[in-house]
Amino acid sequence: MLVEEAIRGRASIKVFSDQPVDDALIWRCLETAVWAPNHHLTEPWRFTVVVAEGRDWLARIVQTALTEKAVGLDLAAAHAKALKERRSLLSAPVWITIYSEAGRDPRQTRENFAASAAAAQNVLLMAHDQGLGSIWRTSQIYELPAVREALRASNDATFVGSLALGYAQQRVVKRRRSAAREWTHWLNPNQVV
Ligand SMILES: Cc1cc2nc3c(=O)[nH]c(=O)nc-3n(C[C@H](O)[C@H](O)[C@H](O)COP(=O)(O)O)c2cc1C
Repeated sequence: MLVEEAIRGRASIKVFSDQPVDDALIWRCLETAVWAPNHHLTEPWRFTVVVAEGRDWLARIVQTALTEKAVGLDLAAAHAKALKERRSLLSAPVWITIYSEAGRDPRQTRENFAASAAAAQNVLLMAHDQGLGSIWRTSQIYELPAVREALRASNDATFVGSLALGYAQQRVVKRRRSAAREWTHWLNPNQVV
């Protein structure tokens, strides 16, 4: 698939079939992810692949973490939130969570985050190329200490996203974009655009 075709053809998918995804396809996404640009070759991305019973295991960790200290109405809300997160986790056969390691100073930490986000986009594009649907999701659960520990995130790492992969069971919805012209200035005194 041509790069432009992959970029323009990708769209977030929210409904996946139960069909498992071959490990080889997941590895191909990850091996492509690490070709993202990264300043000083810090290789800041950290991936955890959550599949099969791993999703259920993670959902239980989330439930325990959310309900541990809650009482009364808070407990009911925590249960509801845990259930929602569980449904979300079980809605896709594969999740790739990405954390970005801290740098030696705030600037490098920012650059690392940018590089890790580029790696995430590589995963989405490679998934699309291989006929998989995907969506980049974020959630507060990835900040919970127990979840971070389960996903092997170091203390200083920043959560980048949790990428769901699987075979789409919905029609593709293309969301709108404004033309780049809307957001672009050209700086060239000899040329008026
Ligand atoms: C950093 C980031 C976080 C996102 N988090 C969520 C999310 O939590 N839930 C969700 O439904 N979509 C999430 N998305 C997907 C966007 O909603 C989606 O990319 C956007 O609507 C454009 O649609 P498209 O991907 O089909 O072009 C996220 C995307 C990014 C880049």
